Amino acid sequence: MKVDVLLGLQWGDEGKGKVVDVLTPKYDVITRFQGGPNAGHTLEFNNIKHVLHNIPSGIFHTDKMNIIGNGVVLDPISFKQEIDELEAKDMDLAKNLLISKKAHLILPTHRILDAASEASKGKTKIGSTLKGIGPTYMDKTGRNGLRVGDILNNFEQKYEELKKKHEQLLSMYDFEYNIEEFEAGLMEGIECLKKFTIIDSEHDINKFLKEGKSVLAEGAQGTLLDIDFGSYPFVTSSNTICAGACTGMGVAPNKIGEVFGIFKAYCTRVGSGPFPTELECETGEELRKAGHEFGATTGRPRRCGWLDLVALKYSVMINGVTQLIMTKGDVLSSFKTIKVATAYKVNGVETSEFPFELPEDIEVVYTEVPGWAEDLTGMKSEDQFPKELSDYIAYLEKELEVPITIVSVGPDRDQTIIRK
Ligand code: GDP
Ligand code: IMO
Ligand code: MG
Repeated sequence: MKVDVLLGLQWGDEGKGKVVDVLTPKYDVITRFQGGPNAGHTLEFNNIKHVLHNIPSGIFHTDKMNIIGNGVVLDPISFKQEIDELEAKDMDLAKNLLISKKAHLILPTHRILDAASEASKGKTKIGSTLKGIGPTYMDKTGRNGLRVGDILNNFEQKYEELKKKHEQLLSMYDFEYNIEEFEAGLMEGIECLKKFTIIDSEHDINKFLKEGKSVLAEGAQGTLLDIDFGSYPFVTSSNTICAGACTGMGVAPNKIGEVFGIFKAYCTRVGSGPFPTELECETGEELRKAGHEFGATTGRPRRCGWLDLVALKYSVMINGVTQLIMTKGDVLSSFKTIKVATAYKVNGVETSEFPFELPEDIEVVYTEVPGWAEDLTGMKSEDQFPKELSDYIAYLEKELEVPITIVSVGPDRDQTIIRK
């Protein structure tokens, strides 16, 4: 068996959580392979909305195994909060949630370092979620980090040693903090983690594959936030792309099967950084309102803009996408016409290649297509689609050279159309 991967093709929040939940019945195991509680994955069913940050979106199907892989960074405090919230909904997670020993721990001082670094940057800040992601991955690559496996012996001593190093780093910033406030709940979080089965997940995942079990890997963030290929430095600190699934789970490249690339029918971005198709006008406001575009983790308003085919083609290439999933087409229902970016102009020269840098004043070449003035949210099959939507889908498939196999027409599990 192979691992199928579902990942974001834009700047995150494409609807990954929703669609992973929809696809879960087809799989035995769901994994997360990178990122941490900077992610906010929303699922809706039975008129209830759930937002997951650390836990894979397969968790509501209680007969499926969920794994937090080695590439993830895990904050014991945020993890416990999430577990408590789910247990309050009568879920017994110890049965179907496994955690890799090699996942790195986000410590209170990582969150403080994140805040200090952002504050020192002033106007050039990344717009981080302030969950400690950057400093934790820095400690991982700097070979200082603590891993989940470290909680099993002498954790307090190891933590105090690393905390001292962090305090030295913090003394270089002009930043006031109250460590006790950040540390509250750390040891309870560590005890909560110990209730779970902590595993060498690379062995388990490969064994599952050998036994013929199917695995779906759930990406966090999106390709344009990838540490190597995103709009650096306005990115996150992990490889959000398909290759990240290999390193984040210990799965060889030849074990990757389908690569589901998910995108919104338009674009959003939360945090700072270039966004060529951004609409800083009434139309952007209309998109934000219609799409309820507010961050699932921080509540910040998301910046909105038209679909960007230059960026999307780049993401399809980098990930080797085999199937596309389009979400939130229903949000565009109120627009008479819809714009799609087909090229950029850099220094007056037209290019359809995603460039090294995206200058603030980059010119965008658009094509305009007719909108569909019909409510899609109640539709159950593609036969009901207005012609303009079918044309939009056909146009994108032709441009991206990959089929769009799933179309999501609303936030609920049931508002999902699998195309023939
Ligand atoms: P993720 O981070 O990729 O899992 O996405 P988020 O959960 O952060 O953001 C996606 C938002 O859009 C959530 O509020 C979802 O409930 C919602 N959503 C997902 N698919 C659709 C869709 O097809 N239509 C509409 N209107 N909302 C959707
Ligand atoms: P999901 O999985 C959207 C953005 C932040 C910031 C940059 C760096 O829900 O799609 P970080 O906290 O990683 O240091 O922030 O990345 N960002 C996200 N934007 N969705 C996410 O996750 C994000 N995770 C991080 O806003 O611009
Ligand atoms: Mg999100």
